[in-house]
Amino acid sequence: MLKQLIYISTARPSLMPTEVEAILQKSRERNQRDKVTGLLVFDGKRFLQAVEGPHAAVEATYARIILDPRHRALVKLSDRDVNKREFGDWSMGSHLSGPVMGAGDLIAHVDAMTEDLSDRNMRETLRSFVRIRSA
Ligand SMILES: Cc1cc2nc3c(=O)[nH]c(=O)nc-3n(C[C@H](O)[C@H](O)[C@H](O)COP(=O)(O)O)c2cc1C
Repeated sequence: MLKQLIYISTARPSLMPTEVEAILQKSRERNQRDKVTGLLVFDGKRFLQAVEGPHAAVEATYARIILDPRHRALVKLSDRDVNKREFGDWSMGSHLSGPVMGAGDLIAHVDAMTEDLSDRNMRETLRSFVRIRSA
């Protein structure tokens, strides 16, 4: 049985694009090692992340993420057991967009990323997130 967690958070206001890149790079390395998959979406202000994998690995990862001063106000959107991975192909698939990127790009990208998700609710949760955040 695998554990899957989805949360949103607010980036520290002074967060630089290079720091976001560093988060992503580190996450990819560690998640690959820990057999954690997921996705990370950043709209310039808020993060949306899904992490899934063996229970202990997901819990340890989330425990580190919670303590990270580069974001705050984490809110869990979903916390459940899954039989198989929904984000299996991504050690940490991502979309990062700053103010320079039009909202349409983020929406289109997340729509494409979530196209193959078998869980309809999950797909709608992720898709509605970017629509609300990009409005
Ligand atoms: C928005 C956000 C998402 C993150 N996602 C992950 C992740 O998926 N996996 C991971 O190992 N670390 C992730 N991190 C980084 C961790 O908070 C932490 O810095 C990293 O795991 C290294 O931990 P360590 O310095 O204790 O070794 C994320 C950080 C932020 C701010």
